[in-house]
Amino acid sequence: MTDDSWAGLVDSFAEGAYASPKGLVRTYVMHHQLLEHLAGPPGAVLDVGGGAGHQSFPLAQAGYEVTLLDPSAAMLDKARERLGRLPAEVQARVTLLQADGLEAVEAVDGRLFDAVLCHGVLGYLPQPDGLVDQLCQCVGAGGLVSIMSGNANTAAVRPALEQRWADALAGFDSVEEIGVLGVPTRGDTVEHLSGLLSTHGVEPLRWYGVWLFTDWLEFAGVEVDLSDPEQVAAMAAVELEASKRDPYRQLSRPFHLVGRRLA
Ligand SMILES: C[S@@+](CC[C@H](N)C(=O)[O-])C[C@H]1O[C@@H](n2cnc3c(N)ncnc32)[C@H](O)[C@@H]1O
Repeated sequence: MTDDSWAGLVDSFAEGAYASPKGLVRTYVMHHQLLEHLAGPPGAVLDVGGGAGHQSFPLAQAGYEVTLLDPSAAMLDKARERLGRLPAEVQARVTLLQADGLEAVEAVDGRLFDAVLCHGVLGYLPQPDGLVDQLCQCVGAGGLVSIMSGNANTAAVRPALEQRWADALAGFDSVEEIGVLGVPTRGDTVEHLSGLLSTHGVEPLRWYGVWLFTDWLEFAGVEVDLSDPEQVAAMAAVELEASKRDPYRQLSRPFHLVGRRLA
């Protein structure tokens, strides 16, 4: 694990992307979607490819026991730094673990969790199968698997809104693009990942969009004023509603799929 390909992206991701309107929406919307399905705390959550903890530290703050697994030492350093700003009792509920998600079962010694998250990770792997298999093996009976990935069905949206028309035309039939962090990413579909979950005994429960209007505003060059908490809250509320409804959720570039292990 000496090749830390994420080291150069830590700040643009953890400080840049998450401080943007989209980052705020992502944290808010995903947290609320998860709480719809999670049994109340305490419960054990494994965050595979958890990065700097933006998705699972809010769960630790809500009372869940979080194990954040990530292969990147630099990402884990950032997670440690962010964790250090939280109250001591929250810090005590978080364990950081350096490992590849493809070896998650071994890394957690076969422990079973009440929820396994994998947000924004699958798209960086050539295929989702191996990692989805590991996620499903780490979740106990009745537990949740929560996956966020780029939606291959909306691959034309970004190049079109950037007026890269040739790329947009190609995007209708392509699953790859240069993602928000400037590195190549691969899109997935709800249908394919749902099928993979089912194969591993995890029943797909529901899927959502993640961000929509904030994305379009950014592409249109509109600066969203984040200094007004009321406006930010109103924006987040609209995005949460859009994430649950057709046709809006179908147009969101990322999607969030939640499944439950039956037995
Ligand atoms: C875009 S970040 C997402 C972080 C976090 N899940 C979130 O949503 O904020 C992608 C993360 O995936 C991690 N990653 C890349 N390849 C991985 C693998 N094979 N197994 C587990 N994590 C991986 C990277 O180190 C990075 O922290």
